[in-house]
Amino acid sequence: MEDVLRDRLIDEINGYYEADATKLAPQEMFFSAAAYSDPERLERERKMFQRFPIVVGHSSSLPKSGDFITRNDYGTPIIVSRQDDGSLKAWLNVCRHRGAQVCSAKSGSKRVFVCPYHSWTYKSDGSLLKIPRDEGFPNIRKQDHGLIELPVEERHGLIWVVHAPGATIDVAAHLGPLDAELASYSPSSYVLERDTVLTEDMSWKFVIDGFLEVYHLAFLHAESIGPYIYGKYSPFDVFGLNSRLVGVRKSFDKFRQSGSKEDFLSQVAVNYQIFPNTVIVWQGDHFETWTSFPGEKANRCKVRIQSLTTARMAEDDFKARWDKNWRILIDTVVNEDWQISKTVQAAAPFVKDDKIIFGRNELGLQHFHSQINQQIK
Ligand code: FES
Ligand SMILES: [Fe+2]
Repeated sequence: MEDVLRDRLIDEINGYYEADATKLAPQEMFFSAAAYSDPERLERERKMFQRFPIVVGHSSSLPKSGDFITRNDYGTPIIVSRQDDGSLKAWLNVCRHRGAQVCSAKSGSKRVFVCPYHSWTYKSDGSLLKIPRDEGFPNIRKQDHGLIELPVEERHGLIWVVHAPGATIDVAAHLGPLDAELASYSPSSYVLERDTVLTEDMSWKFVIDGFLEVYHLAFLHAESIGPYIYGKYSPFDVFGLNSRLVGVRKSFDKFRQSGSKEDFLSQVAVNYQIFPNTVIVWQGDHFETWTSFPGEKANRCKVRIQSLTTARMAEDDFKARWDKNWRILIDTVVNEDWQISKTVQAAAPFVKDDKIIFGRNELGLQHFHSQINQQIK
């Protein structure tokens, strides 16, 4: 984080301390409870996803030429592969013959992708190399039947894909001012420490909601992280479709008394909400990325959680630390946040006039859901 921003945030948090306040929206916002379970709306949300760069993984998962990962988190099967020149290519994981899944491994290294059905063989640049018994296909020109490419970009150590062949991708433009801010953490030097996918019975939006307000910390998380992070004093800023919420650790009490500005980033948790479905959390000694995908029904989602740290701290002697961290994460987010979110999902038919309320102190939720409302029109 740049010093100018750090100093501004410290001043802002000190102001909230002195006033015992937090950042507030002008007023409450009423929102439809059914928006979490409406199948017609889900379809519009799924279409919206295809217009944005979506985080599908981390660069360190495929360091060498020929390395690949496959994904199906969004319901579109894809392959991402490292090319000889160091760049990435992404394709639909769909054979040009009759559509079988070309590669079923989750990751690995391959010089060719051989479709298991009839052995149509693709080079690691996606072009079609071989059709066995090609007398059966006299009118099929190999050069026209490579794997179908998807726009892909590596930025900030993350792999971003637009799930729409022929679309353009510009992650920096999508991030706006957050592009430079994220770069200031040097995230591309980080490596993947842990990567997990969970399937949950709730809307994909609840995953993002959980990171957009600190109001609930002292209550829902009273026995877990509540004692360590304030449910107030939080700066919140909007950057186009995206936003940043700063959670203030209680260690900030001592920090502000010391008058020093060094080590500010250890006193806060910084949540970057990247539209539509990713939250990047700076946790003081590591990053987490939470990417939430709509499932086949409005009350289903798939969540990919990546934990990123420095190469040194990803070594075995730090494993106990990350195991403990992981237990806290699961206890807090899965067993507390998502547990309660499922009750919100189930309550939709009983919510009076279909109106739930995002308070003035829940302005992250106001912003996120307003942006979705606009983008799915
Ligand atoms: S479907 Fe792939 S080779 Fe036939
Ligand atoms: Fe929470």
